[in-house]
Amino acid sequence: MQKYLVVGHPIDHSLSPLIQGLFAEQCGLSDFVYETHDVEPGGFIEAMAVLRRDNSLQGLNVTLPFKMDAADYCDKITDRARAAGAVNTICIGAGYTLGDNTDGVGLERDIEKRGGIQLKGQRVLVIGAGGAARGVISHFKTLGCAKIDITNRTFERAVALAMDLGVTAVNMLDTASGGYDVIINATSASLSPGSVPAIPNGAFKDCKLAVDLVYGALPTAFMRLALDSGAESAQDGLGMLVEQAAESFRLWTGTMPETESVCHKVREMLTNH
Ligand code: ATR
Repeated sequence: MQKYLVVGHPIDHSLSPLIQGLFAEQCGLSDFVYETHDVEPGGFIEAMAVLRRDNSLQGLNVTLPFKMDAADYCDKITDRARAAGAVNTICIGAGYTLGDNTDGVGLERDIEKRGGIQLKGQRVLVIGAGGAARGVISHFKTLGCAKIDITNRTFERAVALAMDLGVTAVNMLDTASGGYDVIINATSASLSPGSVPAIPNGAFKDCKLAVDLVYGALPTAFMRLALDSGAESAQDGLGMLVEQAAESFRLWTGTMPETESVCHKVREMLTNH
């Protein structure tokens, strides 16, 4: 048996077991097992010590609130995980752990495949200044975007993150003149239904694609705002979820699964429940 877990809190409603199960089925891996594992906040290191006793455990996904703990825990982490300041994928070798972060590349591939946009040369605005924004910007910086601006409700946090990552902080009201091809909502506003960051409508006037990192059965309030304000298209974070999972699966098994059919199935399941 090859066993994998996703560790987080809360974790009950994670779609990862469904997604990874579909990848395994597609690749004919009949001994692939993937389960959720709930850990109380503050308990990550102790939980790992117990989990590692199981020799069939080959790897883990790590989600909120443990992505930074996982970066501290791993024996070695990749450059992209270091830049993101977070680990979402752990590969377990003989007596050691390697931590990686597949979120950034997952978003890149989603934008490429479902949004039809190559990020090279694009003018990008990221809204938010937390861990999600850091992960997105640190990866986008490697892609040759024409510019990356960051804006946030609390401007000082945008300035601090921008200085840290070498991008530009922009006051939210100053985005009103547009000039962005791609706008990413990396705030947690969409977690409260109907809530959106106070971004001016004008920000979207040149926007080819608006992406909300949050997903749900219905288009999010941010997607609706973007489309109503002139964005050509908008998508939620479901594609990114599937793409980051595919990259984790590839790291563990050596096989890159096909993602389009999986996106459709997961979307169908979300819509019907
Ligand atoms: P994460 O690690 O998921 O990014 P976080 O570090 O708590 O979470 O950051 C949440 C981000 O969402 C922040 O940028 C936050 O803005 P502030 O820095 O001003 O708090 C943003 N955010 C959350 N709710 C928001 C809302 N209702 N409107 C605008 N921004 C919001």
